[in-house]
Amino acid sequence: MKLVTLGVFSAVQLFVGQASAVEFDARAQLVDVTRKHQFQPPGVGDLRGPCPALNALANHGFIPHNGIATIDEIVNASMNVFGLGYDLAHLAAIYGTAMSVSTDLSHMSIGGPAPLGSTPANSSVILLVNPGGLDTTHAAFEHDCSATRIDKYIADNGDASTMSLDLFKDLYYRQQGLPDEQVDYNLAIMNDHRMQRTIDSENQNPNFFISPFAGLMHIGASHGLVWQCFSNHSAKYPEGRLDRETLMSFYGVERSHEFVGEHLIYKPGWEQIPVEWYRRALSDPYTALHTSDDLLAAASQHPDLIDKYSMGGNVNGVNTFTVLEADSLTNGAYKRSELRNDHNLVCLGLIAGLLLSPEYLREYYVDYEHNVWPTLMMRLPPLFTDLNCKGVDSVEPRLLDMYPGYNMSLPHNIWRA
Ligand code: HEM
Ligand SMILES: *[C@@H]1O[C@H](CO)[C@@H](O)[C@H](O)[C@H]1NC(C)=O
Ligand SMILES: *[C@@H]1O[C@H](CO)[C@@H](O)[C@H](O)[C@H]1NC(C)=O
Ligand SMILES: *[C@@H]1O[C@H](CO)[C@@H](O)[C@H](O)[C@H]1NC(C)=O
Ligand SMILES: *[C@@H]1O[C@H](CO)[C@@H](O)[C@H](O)[C@H]1NC(C)=O
Repeated sequence: MKLVTLGVFSAVQLFVGQASAVEFDARAQLVDVTRKHQFQPPGVGDLRGPCPALNALANHGFIPHNGIATIDEIVNASMNVFGLGYDLAHLAAIYGTAMSVSTDLSHMSIGGPAPLGSTPANSSVILLVNPGGLDTTHAAFEHDCSATRIDKYIADNGDASTMSLDLFKDLYYRQQGLPDEQVDYNLAIMNDHRMQRTIDSENQNPNFFISPFAGLMHIGASHGLVWQCFSNHSAKYPEGRLDRETLMSFYGVERSHEFVGEHLIYKPGWEQIPVEWYRRALSDPYTALHTSDDLLAAASQHPDLIDKYSMGGNVNGVNTFTVLEADSLTNGAYKRSELRNDHNLVCLGLIAGLLLSPEYLREYYVDYEHNVWPTLMMRLPPLFTDLNCKGVDSVEPRLLDMYPGYNMSLPHNIWRA
């Protein structure tokens, strides 16, 4: 598959965010959760899924409460409420919509399949399968070794979207014993947690797989986002500090005092934006450049995250992790030895991810080449200009077939099963 359309990225005017001292503006950063944005737990039929941020947005009416939202609604709310960058908000919402099997390439379910008839049809979008949602994007977007979700192929009923309270506790108790005012679930903590989650997956999940986009880029990004976008910001901590209460709130966890000692309970889908919570500075949105920095910082703290677990998976049962070589995947454009240079980690994740996306899209949409692909490409922001990514002419999808966790995620194998 040739990526002939990469040029459109540079044709669009660039949105540049410069790193500078982060400011704090209480009035601009306070997120109003009163009145129409008051917390309302999901009711029967409301969809919630693997992303705690989107679940919280739906619970507070920043996107529709039923969990079916348009690209524009998701982009707007992610940027305004969480300070996600223009680039990543568009990438996630547009790519997520395409991978969710959307009836109109605009509406997306943030959880399980959108019920038939719940989203508008578009006569130029003809589906080969029933509409899905973020829950059905395994290996394309939803990934293994998540911070708090169990890997799809070892989860009860294949549910990789509902949180595992045990995994949450693994994270939560990483600050055990620290006085409340010192607690901060910062990047170093998230990197340690990610390293452990990766080793757990290799040891426990015979179908563990780290794909280029959902894996190389998104695993690191989604761990980093916990601190980057759930932190409470203040004059004292303009870059944010994430304490126990705020972490719990964004994960739908409460303390029960029914028993002696601390007892945590989880209400699935009850992710809540805390009262008097201050988001990231809107002058410092979380962009792909930040992701690049976070992935590199994680790799310097735990070199194995790149040297051993960049991309690839178990090939023959647990503890058989085999690297998917960047060199072979990209015909030499990206080399394993150069993954730490420039923004190569994010670039490779993005480009290889987009080049592999037809492996799913062509089985979801009739003639994806003439509707989904151009829609994806035209609407995506100029990601690669900002990152100065080296281009890739083509990738070889068949290199991934050796990984059962990839093979199982392909639509035709799901239907056959
Ligand atoms: C722009 C639209 C967004 C889409 C389409 C999206 C999609 C997803 C998906 C598919 C996952 C599952 C990955 C996994 O397997 O763990 C996920 C996880 C996650 N997302 Fe989002 N997301 C979006 C925005 C955000 C924002 C604004 C934040 C800000 C905090 C965020 C934070 C997270 C976190 C922390 C996780 C990891 C959950 C865990 O395992 O604990 N996402 N997201
Ligand atoms: C965009 O977000 C702002 C702030 O959350 C909200 O007031 C506005 O209604 C949103 N607009 C759309 C079109 O969703
Ligand atoms: C249908 O989708 C096409 C291509 O994705 C788009 O150009 C068009 O505006 C859409 N039509 C409606 C009515 O939304
Ligand atoms: C966020 O920080 C401010 C300033 O320290 C504090 O007043 C507020 O209660 C905090 N919000 C949360 C949700 O912890
Ligand atoms: C992929 O999965 C299918 C169906 O489960 C199986 O028949 C096939 O042998 C697998 N291919 C590889 C390369 O493992």
